[in-house]
Amino acid sequence: MPGNKLSDKIFPVHPPVSGELLLEVENVTVSFDGFKALTNLSLQVPRGSLRVLIGPNGAGKSTLLDTIIGKVQPESGDVRYRGQSIVKLSEHRIANLGICRKFQAPGVLDGLSVRENLLVASKPAKGVLSSFKLGAGAAQSKRVDELLDLVGLRHKADDLAAGLAHGEKQWLEIGMVVASDPELLLLDEPTAGMTAQETAKTAELIRTLAGQHTVLVIDHDMAFVELLGAPITVLHQGQVFREGDLASLRADPDVMEIYLGRPKEATDKEARHAQA
Ligand SMILES: Nc1ncnc2c1ncn2[C@@H]1O[C@H](COP(=O)(O)OP(=O)(O)OP(=O)(O)O)[C@@H](O)[C@H]1O
Ligand SMILES: [Mg+2]
Repeated sequence: MPGNKLSDKIFPVHPPVSGELLLEVENVTVSFDGFKALTNLSLQVPRGSLRVLIGPNGAGKSTLLDTIIGKVQPESGDVRYRGQSIVKLSEHRIANLGICRKFQAPGVLDGLSVRENLLVASKPAKGVLSSFKLGAGAAQSKRVDELLDLVGLRHKADDLAAGLAHGEKQWLEIGMVVASDPELLLLDEPTAGMTAQETAKTAELIRTLAGQHTVLVIDHDMAFVELLGAPITVLHQGQVFREGDLASLRADPDVMEIYLGRPKEATDKEARHAQA
């Protein structure tokens, strides 16, 4: 019985439905003081899928996520979620629909332990104080334990988040995002600043999340993108430049060309991977 599986209890399942689109970005244009950060951009993400977004610096990747979460208003176009337009909704209402974005910088609460961070994140509607007043019920504490296992931080559960390594903070934050039970997770450069080993672990974590969640992940690091093994959308100058798997994109001279001016950060990181 599907409802009896442990994973079903922890992460309520959003089963992939063949061909069903969870997110549809349609002809979206976003301007900042006349500069078009996105031009007529369309993107479709099936429910339960994992999708990677790549593209040179300034391609519009983060702006696309800002538009999906309602932080940025497009000047034209539509964003549909579960078939409904969300483009006019507030950020708060969009978050309540189950869309959660993890930003580049970790947003963990340094003064709380790893476990407390996950507890707070799993009670978003009641706020920090009331979640402590209520205490952690057995079910909630079990759920937090499972989240600790998911992100590989059970052994650090009672450590202050402030003392975590950079990669561990990123995993904790992914755990916090999952704790709020979003259907659509948007991850902006989750491996920035990570070692090759941390990057590989992050890829494994994200692959675990897909299926039960729909995941859209941005990253510059091709070694990480390869480990994700998911369809890739290449953005360039605010438009979809190509879509395909990594092998076809690597064989595409036009894609290689837009990457010639790749960010130093990505180049440095790939050099570290090569050494590892
Ligand atoms: N709030 C803003 N005001 C003005 N211009 C902006 C704003 N946000 C983004 N831009 C511009 O829009 C373009 C797209 O930026 P965006 O941050 O979406 O790119 P990106 O693909 O995420 O790049 P990176 O790989 O460097 O993170 C850039 O030219 C950027 O300078
Ligand atoms: Mg960005």
